[in-house]
Amino acid sequence: MLKDSYKRPIRDLRVSLTDRCNFRCFYCLPHGEPPIAPKEQMLSFEEIDYVCEIFVALGIEKLRLTGGEPMLRRDIETIIQKLARLKPSGLRDLALTTNGYYLPDRAQSLKDAGLDRVTISLDSLKRDVFKRMTGVDVLDKVLAGIDAAKKAGLEPIKINAVIVRGHNEDEVADFAAFARDYDVKMRFIEFMPLDSGHEWAREDVVSGKEIRDRISERFPLVRVDVARGSDTSSRYRFADGAPGEIGIIAPVTEPFCGACSRIRLTADGQIRTCLFSTVEHSLRDVVRSGASRAEIIEYIHSVIMKKEPRHFINDPGFVAPSRTMSFIGG
Ligand code: GTP
Ligand code: 5AD
Ligand code: SF4
Repeated sequence: MLKDSYKRPIRDLRVSLTDRCNFRCFYCLPHGEPPIAPKEQMLSFEEIDYVCEIFVALGIEKLRLTGGEPMLRRDIETIIQKLARLKPSGLRDLALTTNGYYLPDRAQSLKDAGLDRVTISLDSLKRDVFKRMTGVDVLDKVLAGIDAAKKAGLEPIKINAVIVRGHNEDEVADFAAFARDYDVKMRFIEFMPLDSGHEWAREDVVSGKEIRDRISERFPLVRVDVARGSDTSSRYRFADGAPGEIGIIAPVTEPFCGACSRIRLTADGQIRTCLFSTVEHSLRDVVRSGASRAEIIEYIHSVIMKKEPRHFINDPGFVAPSRTMSFIGG
């Protein structure tokens, strides 16, 4: 099994399929895309499949495909089909994080290809706020995408909302009502300093505690009584037994690094051992150098030993990583 130098088991690999995105969320990619790296620097589906097979053999149990917007990668079903074949070798969970735009037409084909579940970003239930936060006027399309994901059985469906002061903190209880109506797991995320505009400010962070309080005022909550393990969220159900679930992801005010099990692979084949890593490790170069499987495994072990103990958002002198969320994929 993969373990880092702090004895944390590494079980979760998040693979970014592309840096590109068709949205312009202000907390991620507000000023548009930087020049796109040449195609030959990107991992091919064959390379992704090859390294994921090795990662699963080393004990990775969860694979999450991210972006940018991963559904911009043409023929994403092909890579899902390949990765789904790793199930008998120990892969337990194959998930996708998406902005939902392409789901109305494609949810079923993702399911047919072997995807287990989706997590969909949804930052507002109001058309004008949605447009202001994401840069695109497509709330209805994303809601239709959530419906399509449900119909296709890509469950459990998780909905991610980044809560930012002055934008959507007044909608928190409405989102909880949405979770009840749609029977989905609604997750509220604290704004982190990973925006390409470098405009993050501590005052803009709406704390997990405030989010819990805002929901509880309308819908009393009960903590879900399971070990949290390496999960990012603390989980709650509704005290009145209504369907749906609440998850609060509070990396800024309640960091969860001590149990972190995650590593990331960028679309251009760099391993990132933390969301906030300031260095990357080129698995692509190792693979393309013709390294043997044993050499690749040795390299992966050595990189994981360098995983950071935690993020330093709350330390004086914190410097945001140069790669921002659209490259890292959440
Ligand atoms: P599952 O619970 O397996 O569905 O996945 P997850 O909790 O990792 O969820 P998801 O990938 O949807 O992540 C939700 C958000 O949590 C991301 O978009 C990030 O904002 C944040 N997040 C995820 N992983 C980390 C992490 O390792 N560190 C920090 N600080 N934030 C994270
Ligand atoms: N802070 C917190 N979460 C973010 N995401 C993107 N940028 C940020 C940020 N600055 C999350 C969104 C999206 C996922 C891909 O990444 O929740 O769902
Ligand atoms: Fe893990 Fe880094 Fe996220 Fe902390 S900030 S939970 S160490 S990836």
